[in-house]
Amino acid sequence: MYTVGVDIGGTKIRYGLFDARKLVRVEEMKTPKEAITERLIDDLRIFVQGRSIQGIGIASAGIVDFKKRKIKRAANLRAIENVLLGEILEKELQVPVALENDANCAALAEAKKGAARSVDHSICITIGTGIGGGIIHDEEVVHGRNGYAGEVGHMVVVPSGKPCGCGRKGCWEMYASGKALERMIAEDSVLAGGGFTPKDVLERAGCDNCRHVIDRFVEALANGLINLQYIFDPEMIVVGGGVTHSSEAWWDQLEKKVGEANIEVNVQRAHFQNDAGMIGASFLVK
Ligand code: BGC
Ligand code: NA
Ligand code: ZN
Repeated sequence: MYTVGVDIGGTKIRYGLFDARKLVRVEEMKTPKEAITERLIDDLRIFVQGRSIQGIGIASAGIVDFKKRKIKRAANLRAIENVLLGEILEKELQVPVALENDANCAALAEAKKGAARSVDHSICITIGTGIGGGIIHDEEVVHGRNGYAGEVGHMVVVPSGKPCGCGRKGCWEMYASGKALERMIAEDSVLAGGGFTPKDVLERAGCDNCRHVIDRFVEALANGLINLQYIFDPEMIVVGGGVTHSSEAWWDQLEKKVGEANIEVNVQRAHFQNDAGMIGASFLVK
């Protein structure tokens, strides 16, 4: 018996096949602009062909109604907002389907098998294009009333700040994400136009202009983490996501910055890398 974990992001969709808990196959597609549901049905049919599947877990960016199994709001996935994804896929594919926010899935993966496996109360932050967040209490995702719990990327940290995809201004993800790093690179007179990726810059602590960008990124990230500690006081805050898999230097700087707040914050690097969402999604299959 296999399970499937799917990670739907604004730029790509990843399909993972799990044998028991082991990831045995991954496929990646570009996220289409239209007809995402039809695309998921077609891709999944081919992906699971000839195998007996216990269930499909889906991780998606955006605010998810996990009970109705639909994405309520996702800036980069407008085409499937409010589509009854779980119901439709279940009917088409004849297997149980569960849906959850991508960062909640990553948090679940870290809590069950990753960096936070030894604690009961953790928060996991994923730093990619945006900032995602998942809150775990006793191995369960905290959803809140409307599924907003953990949407920490949209806490406003700069009043009237940079406009965010969510329609508001000054959100945390405009200052401490991959997108934020890209903006800071584009605004820097030396780095602009040099083809530098966020990762390149995070790895060049020796360059003055890069260091200036890193300093601002680390400060925004540290402040947000400290805020989270003050609100939830978790046993651990796990930091993951594509942007974080780069050199150790900026991470040391982050730990130092967080340490300066003089409160107890246990910040740890995520165990899982790009597969965290898919792995957590596979855990949704009961
Ligand atoms: C979205 C979250 C998502 C995160 C990571 C944010 O912009 O609001 O729902 O978890 O990006 O994909
Ligand atoms: Na979340
Ligand atoms: Zn926002």
